Amino acid sequence: MRKVVITGANRGIGFGLVQRFLENGFHVIATYRHEKSSSELLEFAKTYQQITLVKMDLNNDSDYLKLQDVLASHSEIDFLINNAGVIGGKSSSILTTSAENVLEVFKNNTLNPFKICQTVLPFLRSGGVVSQITSLMGSIEDNQSGGYYDYRISKAALNMLHRCLSIEFKNFIFLTLHPGWVQTDMGGEQAPTTIEESTKGLFKVITEKALCHSGKFLNYQGNELPW
Ligand SMILES: NC(=O)c1ccc[n+]([C@@H]2O[C@H](COP(=O)([O-])OP(=O)(O)OC[C@H]3O[C@@H](n4cnc5c(N)ncnc54)[C@H](OP(=O)(O)O)[C@@H]3O)[C@@H](O)[C@H]2O)c1
Repeated sequence: MRKVVITGANRGIGFGLVQRFLENGFHVIATYRHEKSSSELLEFAKTYQQITLVKMDLNNDSDYLKLQDVLASHSEIDFLINNAGVIGGKSSSILTTSAENVLEVFKNNTLNPFKICQTVLPFLRSGGVVSQITSLMGSIEDNQSGGYYDYRISKAALNMLHRCLSIEFKNFIFLTLHPGWVQTDMGGEQAPTTIEESTKGLFKVITEKALCHSGKFLNYQGNELPW
């Protein structure tokens, strides 16, 4: 059975991805942080034997050892999806964005995926796929509206991390993925894309792309985006 690690798997896009991979017969190693915001995932884990839960606050370094222990007890991993992230302060001006805020969002959106890659890559099978759920808001070329300093900086840096990984490791596939503007707590109700639509597209892109797509920035429909 093919195996996927998904971070931030308890709600939003992460939980949608859990459902898509389970429907398609995968074993899902799902990270979540708090029981109180994870009731649906915890219920799922009672029904499906092919879920392994790992309770992790990704800001807590010692929690990465828990994931390492779980991975050591499985044979090789096929897919890693760095999905967990935060939106930050949504400020439109540098004058109302604190440097502390930028650092906090950078920790969550850039350094945590960095640490997850350090933890999971040694367990990834050759030909395995690493996906970062980033955002078009991290695109320098696409940015015409500005603002969201903390979020945009963190996702642009995440995109660079991924590009570097694709150059260092030629035996894995690295996909930098924009999920669309999606109806989650982060995206809000006015977002045009449902979680189901986004995650069905992401599932297809993640499972069907080949080594020649490594290092590309794609949306959930598989179309290439500007860096
Ligand atoms: N929704 C959109 O329109 C949109 C657009 C572009 C990109 N994205 C990206 O898609 C990804 C998922 O977004 P979403 O819309 O599903 O967001 P969401 O509904 O706000 O969910 C965020 C997830 O990340 C987890 N998380 C955040 N910080 C964490 C930490 N330090 N430790 C452990 N878990 C942490 C949350 O866990 P808790 O429940 O414990 O907080 C939650 O599971 C993010 O990377 C986001 O930037 C979303």
